[in-house]
Amino acid sequence: MSMLSFRALLLLCVASGINGLVLTTSCERSTVPTITGGVGELLRVHRWSRRCGRLLMDSDERNPGRVVGTDLRILEYPDPRLRASNTDVTSFKDYKLKKLVKEMFKVMYASGGVGLAAPQVGINQRLMVFNPTGDSTEASSEVVLCNPEITEVSEPTEVEVEGCLSFPGFTADVRRHSAIKVRYQNMKGKWLEETLVDWEARIFQHEYDHLTSTLYIDRLDASERARVQENLVELTDKFGPGGAP
Ligand code: CO
Repeated sequence: MSMLSFRALLLLCVASGINGLVLTTSCERSTVPTITGGVGELLRVHRWSRRCGRLLMDSDERNPGRVVGTDLRILEYPDPRLRASNTDVTSFKDYKLKKLVKEMFKVMYASGGVGLAAPQVGINQRLMVFNPTGDSTEASSEVVLCNPEITEVSEPTEVEVEGCLSFPGFTADVRRHSAIKVRYQNMKGKWLEETLVDWEARIFQHEYDHLTSTLYIDRLDASERARVQENLVELTDKFGPGGAP
């Protein structure tokens, strides 16, 4: 099935109000081919410390509000821009894209996050940035992905704690594929392919969701969703009328 129909299916699941959409067999198995033969045969594999990631996600994430050097701000649920559809990045090698990416990293580091998707700062484009180390001095670990797609997923999945900068104040257990194969365009517009595992695969899947108008609360099982319901009501009340579900 093509990525276009994969996206369409995801959106359909959201529109139908199916909770935990890709955790269901019908959504998961029929969309993206499963990686077989183990990750050893795959082109490039990155691993990062999960301990580092857990620490960042569990305790250090926050909405910094205004950040020096940028007007971008983290949007919080249920801002409708988090559920809006996102367009492809079409201009590469230009100053505007460079500036946007630079400012997204600024906001991400100021938030104590390890990844940020453009819709989270009100830019409804298929663009994400991440740095699995969460450390602004580790610039060599910074990753910028334009128009990313998931081309294969591993059969094994893992449940780990996640937080989201657009959902301050709580974290929740989320099931994700342990390994994924992705393709994306870099800032010069060149298509690249990579295999991501563990922590990096998780960050990618979380940020990729933002680009398909999916939020991580959609992926919680019933008990996790019930557990965070009060937090969601608080955020909805704080946002006021006009928020998206
Ligand atoms: Co998020």
